[in-house]
Amino acid sequence: MTPDAASHPAALPSTDADWWRQAAVYQIYPRSFADANGDGIGDLAGITSRVPYLAALGIDAVWLSPFYPSALADGGYDVDDYRDVDPRIGTLEEFDAMTAALHAAGIKVIVDVVPNHSSDRHVWFQEALASPRGSAARNRYIFRDGKGDNGELPPNNWVSLFGGPAWDRITEPDGTPGQWYLHLFASEQPDFNWSNEEVREDFRTTLRFWSDRGVDGYRIDVAHALTKNLDPAFDALLDVRQGHEHLFVDGQHPIWDRDEVHEIYADWRRIFDEYDPPRIAVAEAWVPAHRRARYASPEGLGQAFNFDLLMADYDAAEFRRIIVDNLAFADASGSSTTWVFSNHDVVRHATRYALPDDSAASAGGIMSGGKDGKQWLREGGDPAALDIPRGLRRAKAATLLMLALPGSAYLYQGEELGLQEAGQIPAADRQDPAFLRTQGEEVGRDGCRVPLPWTPEGPSFGFGPGGAHLPQPAWFSTYAVSVQEADAGSTLAFYRQALALRHELQTAEELTWLDSGRADVLRFERPGGWTVVSNFGTEPVDLPAGEVLLSSSPLVDGRLPGETTAWLRA
Ligand code: NOJ
Ligand code: CA
Repeated sequence: MTPDAASHPAALPSTDADWWRQAAVYQIYPRSFADANGDGIGDLAGITSRVPYLAALGIDAVWLSPFYPSALADGGYDVDDYRDVDPRIGTLEEFDAMTAALHAAGIKVIVDVVPNHSSDRHVWFQEALASPRGSAARNRYIFRDGKGDNGELPPNNWVSLFGGPAWDRITEPDGTPGQWYLHLFASEQPDFNWSNEEVREDFRTTLRFWSDRGVDGYRIDVAHALTKNLDPAFDALLDVRQGHEHLFVDGQHPIWDRDEVHEIYADWRRIFDEYDPPRIAVAEAWVPAHRRARYASPEGLGQAFNFDLLMADYDAAEFRRIIVDNLAFADASGSSTTWVFSNHDVVRHATRYALPDDSAASAGGIMSGGKDGKQWLREGGDPAALDIPRGLRRAKAATLLMLALPGSAYLYQGEELGLQEAGQIPAADRQDPAFLRTQGEEVGRDGCRVPLPWTPEGPSFGFGPGGAHLPQPAWFSTYAVSVQEADAGSTLAFYRQALALRHELQTAEELTWLDSGRADVLRFERPGGWTVVSNFGTEPVDLPAGEVLLSSSPLVDGRLPGETTAWLRA
């Protein structure tokens, strides 16, 4: 069932500088994708071994979450060395082999850049700890003296995004209690000082390092956080979590989305444009829609994530508003937009849509404080109350709608299997700092990071010859790749069909809304006669004339059932 990798139809020729504008990008969380050597941790050789699978899926690019050396205090987003591979995951030579294999299959490679913070094991942070107050080494991070008679109190009471204080106190080289450093995330993730030219220069080196190795693009982690105004006047800001935007003029918040962050991205753009084709970048910036344009501008990173569908209820009017707004925002910025339902930070959308109907609980949430299935499960939500068939039905309908939209589509590993969140992980096995730093009050993100099932049996369901670094539930067997490859009606077969058809039908970045005659049904057309009907309701609806190319659930008497999307050709 796995076609020859070389036969993968690339969306656009590899020399096309616009390849990213309507790409289908598949996110790999390397530790949980495929484990070649059986140590329970996914690795680069595992990814290389699965290139035929990725080619058969029909994606245009992969985005790899961090694979750099790391103590994994935050799943690899705590980077020890930006220009190397974690020895548990592979080597630089294996990275090159993986990139070559992906390129040979017509698949681009996007890697994660984590510029807001390093890990506390980074050589610069270790040097800062060993150096005195006020030294050049300390000035690469954000150190401050504490308050109180002996500096025993943190500089202010900011709370980190993962809970607990955003400042930690160090011990000075002479053994006395010392200064405090800022970490917006875990203690092991000290924030860089982006006013320091040395920091800027080092990231230029990193971008050239990977670009020279043939990497096609970058996903920029918390792109809206790098530049800060740490004037003590802002110390009363209680915590640094989003939600204070209304207190500040746009671009003037002390931490988030400051205007001057774009100087950094203009600088990076010059580096990206040194390459042919230019390297691309996509900003992870949790900013209001009207603030995305500068991240997405061709003079900046070029594209920015839009998480609006991920956060939305399954509702026709809400989807339509989000689509209209984001197409307009992208157009105004000269970019194309990005669509995403699932990633390594949120509850899988097949599970979000399976949550009991009552609540905002079914909306997606960000990693901290968001109202989503994580909190619902933590608060004792009974997994037996999940309506799994409905969750999958809606997830497939939403995905088929997304794949028909102008712009690029981001898919998260396992969603092509219709995989559900592995929500019931024992506390002792959990890894997410959001769980550990809140003593379990936040359940965290481990449930979407459980290693993938490739076969219905075996010690880790075919993830590798050994175990898995997070426990896999028994029901994973029914979702295994090999099971679905043998079933023409599987979710995997559906994704493959949808992605293959998307390549065939992909066209100018335009969309025309058509009257569906019903408030709970969306209908639109793309140039070339590609018509899309999405029924968010429960009552079947008649389809317009045309050849039905694909539907997310089987038609009933020629009509489109509820919670189903269909593609037609006029
Ligand atoms: C956003 C990443 O997606 C998330 O996984 C990580 O924990 C934070 N940034 C901190 O790097
Ligand atoms: Ca391994």
